[in-house]
Amino acid sequence: MTANIREKDSRHVLQTYGRAPFVLDRGVGMHVWDTDGKEYLDFTSGIAVTPFGHADPEIAAAVSDQMMRLGHVSNLYHTAPQAELADMLCAHSFADRVFFCNSGTEAIEGAIKFARKYARTVTDRPKTQIVSFSGAFHGRSVGALSLTPREAYQAPFRPLMSGVAHVPFNDVAAAQEAIGPETCAVFVEPVQGEGGVNPATPEFLQALRALCNQHGALLVFDEIQTGMGRTGTLWGYQGCGVQPDIMTLAKALGGGLPIGAVLMTERVAAAMQPGDHGSTFAGGPVVCRAAQVVLHRAAAPETLAHVAEMGTLLMERLSEINSPHIREVRGRGLMIGVELDIPAGPVLAAGYAQGMLLLNAGPNVLRLLPPYIIREDHIDTLVNGLTSILREQ
Ligand SMILES: Cc1ncc(COP(=O)(O)O)c(C=O)c1O
Repeated sequence: MTANIREKDSRHVLQTYGRAPFVLDRGVGMHVWDTDGKEYLDFTSGIAVTPFGHADPEIAAAVSDQMMRLGHVSNLYHTAPQAELADMLCAHSFADRVFFCNSGTEAIEGAIKFARKYARTVTDRPKTQIVSFSGAFHGRSVGALSLTPREAYQAPFRPLMSGVAHVPFNDVAAAQEAIGPETCAVFVEPVQGEGGVNPATPEFLQALRALCNQHGALLVFDEIQTGMGRTGTLWGYQGCGVQPDIMTLAKALGGGLPIGAVLMTERVAAAMQPGDHGSTFAGGPVVCRAAQVVLHRAAAPETLAHVAEMGTLLMERLSEINSPHIREVRGRGLMIGVELDIPAGPVLAAGYAQGMLLLNAGPNVLRLLPPYIIREDHIDTLVNGLTSILREQ
């Protein structure tokens, strides 16, 4: 069965992903099994997507109930799940309004459009420049890719969107130089994910806020990876003394179903008119019911306390591994990077052999994004496994 599925994949699926050699078949909680019956502990959450693990009964029940009640009707009609989810997101954040979409990349595209339209409503002068940072990852569509300054990702697809300035991350002086009256928006991840798990310093985020205020630009926090409790607070912006004007969400919001969202203040929202943006699937009743369950549970103080506690413990335990290959352990909450002096690829492969799903972030950073349901015994298994893997490298 495994060979047959791999053969069909290699023959008919566009080969844009480097995939693990096994075929995953089912999962429960922290565990998944492949088609040969081998069990793995999942320390990836599907790249920060499944905060409550696999086959969560409450999410599954909400999805199945909504599917049997009203599965899809388009955005030409009101539905309760969408309105109620928007209400919940605003109640739990700085935002006044929400635009729903289907993925992180779409949320970034929406944010680019909203920022441009907002700039047009506040000035007649050209104000279209967008600033993003070295190491950023905002997505793969043309607009989002333009904000993602990685040569290998961009080069084959140029020309991209013009008017984007890439500035060194965490460099206040460089940001001061780059952000001016022509700046429309500044996009930043509170902790860069794909770029290597790099936390922004609070001083950097505060400086960006001040510069945006000074020049009438919008501060956009890309919380697609950091949002929904991943860093131990519901949003990454909490705890750094800064609020954005726009926040993008996706990944964990749907607990495994595809949904994205752009959250914004009323000031930004006021620039948008009916017809300015839209989507067929976005904010459908089924994904919104799933997201309500996820948000309700992610925002619960006991969930956030558990994420913070397990994150601290995991960081401590990883820092105690005595290996010459570890350069640094960094991150926030359950978003942790282990920078190695060797390529991460063979470590991931050795993890598979030991029954652990691990991620990388760039060539030599091991990235851990476990579900929020992780316990101390899972951390023991991970740290013991990594210790022996690194010893053999
Ligand atoms: C911070 C950030 N922004 C945007 C994206 C793109 O999201 P998606 O893959 O859902 O389009 C990602 C995905 O990894 C991300 O981590």
